[in-house]
Amino acid sequence: MNYILAIESSCDDTSAAIISDGEVISNKVATQEVHENYGGVVPELASREHIQKIIPVVSAALKEASITTSELKAIAVTRGPGLLGSLIVGVTFAKSLAQSLKIPIIEVQHMQAHVMANFAGKSKPEFPFICLTVSGGHTQLVLVKDYLNMSILGQSIDDAAGEAFDKTGKMLGLKYPAGPIIDKLAKQGQAQYAFPKSKVGRHEFSFSGFKTAVMYFLRRETDKNPQFIEENLNDICASIQNSICETLIEKLSIAAEEYDVETLALAGGVSANSELRRRFQELCDERNYKGFVPPISLCTDNAGMIGMVGWYKYLQQDFSNLAIAPAPRLSFD
Ligand code: KG4
Ligand code: ZN
Repeated sequence: MNYILAIESSCDDTSAAIISDGEVISNKVATQEVHENYGGVVPELASREHIQKIIPVVSAALKEASITTSELKAIAVTRGPGLLGSLIVGVTFAKSLAQSLKIPIIEVQHMQAHVMANFAGKSKPEFPFICLTVSGGHTQLVLVKDYLNMSILGQSIDDAAGEAFDKTGKMLGLKYPAGPIIDKLAKQGQAQYAFPKSKVGRHEFSFSGFKTAVMYFLRRETDKNPQFIEENLNDICASIQNSICETLIEKLSIAAEEYDVETLALAGGVSANSELRRRFQELCDERNYKGFVPPISLCTDNAGMIGMVGWYKYLQQDFSNLAIAPAPRLSFD
């Protein structure tokens, strides 16, 4: 068996996974609750938590896979993009362990890993396909031509879809990250409020105008009725979610038609959203696309997806130098 240890520490989740011949056999994630009341990730606190959690998380992943470090063939680690202090913890840990075990390290680009999460299941997408990657920091339409060979067709020119959820959620008084809370509350609401759509390029996204529109809407309504948010929270959440998801699926649909692909995929933390998944399925059913969505545990940040890139790079013996440094703005395109 070819066992690879994968490590992810780019933002506020410390994660370790074991990949055995391309299959994720353990995937442990320690989420940091310390950021909940700050409305976003506090980089300094994130780095400190990674330092505390990395060894217990790696031990737990090895234990669940019932292997020891002596059986590892390589270590895959997120090199970027992400928060510098957070990345330093994972990269330094990976380099040190690799050095002591005398095995190679494999650097992984985090956004490429989100896309590659779609290869973790038994049935795998066929090339070429278009993946809509929606996370807390990025919104990208990606044309995937082969394993690890992908290009960005378009992306957000300002806020990411996850930020649109988190920042509008903050206006409603919800804790960080607000995305999953909005998803839950929206289930009991009706999307009865409409927000304007941004006018940007065909494959680009923009959510800053949407965010401002929500802010003015809430200001106007709470001036009339100070209890407006409290009394209509579920409907406001449903409306915000509806607006974001409609834009995302519309753009994906345009790109799919233009590139004439037969397969579509979703990736990233926001692809855990139930309404986005429903609309994605609807698009695939209506237009006859083969649709792929990773299981929820592989959508939000996790080391399993890092290990998927690690596995395909391992097959090509694409190893990195132990002198690599974290790269906060690393791109795959
Ligand atoms: O991919 P991810 O875990 O981290 C980054 O690489 O950024 O994405 C985190 C983002 C956050 O903005 C969070 O609010 C959002 O994903 N998210 C969701 C849901 N679950 C996570 N947004 C909407 N609905 C969800 N169910
Ligand atoms: Zn991510």
